[in-house]
Amino acid sequence: MFENLEAQPGDGILELMGLFRDDPRPGKIDLGVGVYKNAEGVTPIMRAIKTAEKRLWEVEDTKSYVAPTGAPEFLEAMAGLVLGDAIDRDRLSYAATSGGTGAVRSGMDMIGRANPDATVWVSDPTWPVHWAILRQVGQKHRPYRYFDPATRAVDFDAMMADLDGVARGDVVLLHGCCHNPTGANLTLPEWQIVADHLSERGALAFVDIAYQGFGDGLEQDAAGLRLIAASLPEVIIAASCSKNFGIYRERAGCIIAISEPGQSRDLTQGMLSVLNRNSISFPPDHGARLVSMILNDPALRADWQDELEGIRIGMLDLRQSLADALRARAGSDRFGFLADHRGMFSRLGATPEQVQHLRDAFGIYMVADSRMNIAGLNKATIPVLADAIIATGI
Ligand code: LMR
Repeated sequence: MFENLEAQPGDGILELMGLFRDDPRPGKIDLGVGVYKNAEGVTPIMRAIKTAEKRLWEVEDTKSYVAPTGAPEFLEAMAGLVLGDAIDRDRLSYAATSGGTGAVRSGMDMIGRANPDATVWVSDPTWPVHWAILRQVGQKHRPYRYFDPATRAVDFDAMMADLDGVARGDVVLLHGCCHNPTGANLTLPEWQIVADHLSERGALAFVDIAYQGFGDGLEQDAAGLRLIAASLPEVIIAASCSKNFGIYRERAGCIIAISEPGQSRDLTQGMLSVLNRNSISFPPDHGARLVSMILNDPALRADWQDELEGIRIGMLDLRQSLADALRARAGSDRFGFLADHRGMFSRLGATPEQVQHLRDAFGIYMVADSRMNIAGLNKATIPVLADAIIATGI
């Protein structure tokens, strides 16, 4: 039977991880997978996570199942983190998922159950797993233009021209902040225009927020999402704790569905529960429990926010240093976009051949579309990268 399986296309990000690992050159630089690294190249366990783990070890007295939708205190804390006071809690249905990716998958499944004819509109480019999940669930999907390769900024006119094709009941997938892979983000007035457009069309927004706190700050990074949530009757949110809590391997995240005011949540809550039950039965709890301990304890929360803010400022410093180093070498400000982008990523705008050359000649690894993980840099490697970019003719 297995001979009938189709060979699957490779995953560029996973393949790059393997190539980097196998490269014996001592000076190699990893700007590939979206994992935060400090100046020593280490992905640290955050202080508040360590403290919460220690406390949990002392007080946890069972590892029995929680519930198909996860622990309510985690879900309520995440709803607060992501939505603030933008939405009445009685409009929310939610479930803990296996990371943010699990939430994206559940959201796409839910769309398929609610409206199999819906087209899901996806930014071009986007995180490749968005496309892969849509193909896997068999939901119709279409790209909308998002990024202007010339300016390396959002091409908002092109985006809105494409979203003119959105029909009633369609779904538009948006990145809550820190767009992956470009680093170019919508302004708040642009979020409002998108919200008004979707509202006029009777379309849903599906917001994937995986990097809250990595861009302009915890509250600022959620502002566009909150605006759209307050403007539309129905919204789906996929939230990840992998990056902002640094608990990648614990697989903590959640899906939040916002229903129309006054509408019963029984159908949405029931569907989210069944989607978990029929795929993973019960979601992982360890990471989710650490997150809810942190968010519900003022001192732990303050410590976590403090460390997260340090990470954010550190990435902004790296962005500015790289833009400065390139300005000095290029004699122009054509790399100024690096300081304007937000989050972990920037799309450099190099060709696949130039990306390959950076890898072969200098041991610098970035995704084939020239997405760089800024957190993979440090003070010592910035001049190395800047020299290599100029030498490669980018
Ligand atoms: C990335 O985009 O590199 C991260 O979200 C990690 C992943 O799973 O691809």
